Amino acid sequence: MSRLVAVSNRVAAPTGAKSAGGLAVGILSALRAQGGIWFGWSGKTTESEPGETKRTKSGGIEFVTVDLNAADFDGYYNGFSNNALWPLFHFMLGYFSFSRSQYSAYCRVNEFLARRLGRILEPDDLIWVHDYHLLPLGGALREAGATQPIGFFLHVPFPNFDVLRTLPCYTQILRSLAAYDVVGFQTDRDLWSFQDCLTQPEIGGRVRDDGRIDVFDRTFRAEVFPIGIDVDECQRVAAENFQSKQVKRLGESLKGRKLIIGVDRLDYSKGLELRFRGFQTLLEAYPAVRGQVVYMQIAPPTRTGVRAYDRIREDLEKAAGNINGLYAEMDWIPIRYLNRGYSRELLMAILRRAMVGLVTPIRDGMNLVAKEYVASQDPKSPGIPVLSTLCGAAKELTEAVLVNPYDRQGVADGLQRAIEMPLGERRAKHSAMLMKLRRNDIHRWSERFIDALSAS
Ligand code: ADP
Ligand code: F6P
Repeated sequence: MSRLVAVSNRVAAPTGAKSAGGLAVGILSALRAQGGIWFGWSGKTTESEPGETKRTKSGGIEFVTVDLNAADFDGYYNGFSNNALWPLFHFMLGYFSFSRSQYSAYCRVNEFLARRLGRILEPDDLIWVHDYHLLPLGGALREAGATQPIGFFLHVPFPNFDVLRTLPCYTQILRSLAAYDVVGFQTDRDLWSFQDCLTQPEIGGRVRDDGRIDVFDRTFRAEVFPIGIDVDECQRVAAENFQSKQVKRLGESLKGRKLIIGVDRLDYSKGLELRFRGFQTLLEAYPAVRGQVVYMQIAPPTRTGVRAYDRIREDLEKAAGNINGLYAEMDWIPIRYLNRGYSRELLMAILRRAMVGLVTPIRDGMNLVAKEYVASQDPKSPGIPVLSTLCGAAKELTEAVLVNPYDRQGVADGLQRAIEMPLGERRAKHSAMLMKLRRNDIHRWSERFIDALSAS
């Protein structure tokens, strides 16, 4: 069997406790199943030329990481990745900005990573590159002479052509994706957008009947591989930790009230302020729930070097304070807003404790929290997700209460419906969703991708 080499900007530490982010969770399970190398950024920057790569082995996985030059990192990560590509790929042009120097830094870091990775590659490796930070990595590896199969999986949505062409260098971005042998997306909408971009007259690509794409003098496959979760692990961890001291304390503090839970990185694409306001509308429109529910939002800060992320933190603090100020009683606070990460063990058990999983991103490639919420539930009395139609998970979890996150009243009605849903209906919905999660779990996701890459 070929060796798997997974490449991503962020590499979860081997101890991997609080790795917030769907990408880390997905790569870790793929590598745990078949072993291999995980290559990427060490999480550290240096003012001088980065030193040698660091190699650590743990549980059949070799973690190979490298520091990045501080100035380049700023342009590559804070700049082009998170001020240009992230908002653009999430259809949020209000947050989009572009600068040529940031794009140059992005390309430089990708070339640097390709050089460092090139040193450790073996001829029959399978190279699997992840996410928008590393779009040009495959092309840079090819230029350096790599002949191994190279695949790319995009964890976030892919925008349609009218959005993509906002980016001055969009042709280079499309060209860089054509350097891979397999390009994977979360949903068919993302694939259609990609195909639509490549077949624009000015790009001149062609999609064959078997799905292969001819463009920029190359032929490659582009397919949909929706990412899943490790259902058994999630169920086991949730059940095992349900009786922990912390979850018991949480239960006692609720005093019989129903818990609505939200768990997200503190990211504007997660629609947290709108979500807070949707909850406020629930309290306004359905006064009987006042004092009967608690909404707990866990949201650890991320990308603190990007201004938009600092702003959203302030906005949310204001919104939570405002809603609590309006509705709190002496013995009841409607919103508990926690600005920190938790261990996976505790998180899964907290999800199990909640009667409603409120997952309303305004755009999301997949959203693993939605899937984890379903898997962590007690099948005898499961809670129900209230899920945004604008995330990839909504394509699979069609039994969830589906809402448009921009529609405050719709979110409030959805919450009310979930809170009041009879046990029989909850059980039926839960078992239907669980079946889908099992059919398309994290193992199937990586097997399908690796099979497609091996066959390319
Ligand atoms: P994204 O990749 O955009 O962050 P996902 O919902 O797909 O969104 O994945 C988030 C992952 O990170 C999930 O596996 C979730 O359990 C984990 N996670 C999210 N918030 C926290 C937190 N506060 N502490 C620990 N893990 C978290
Ligand atoms: O899944 C989307 C993603 O952007 C991953 O690429 C990333 O690792 C994760 O979210 C967390 O973001 P960051 O690595 O910027 O903290």
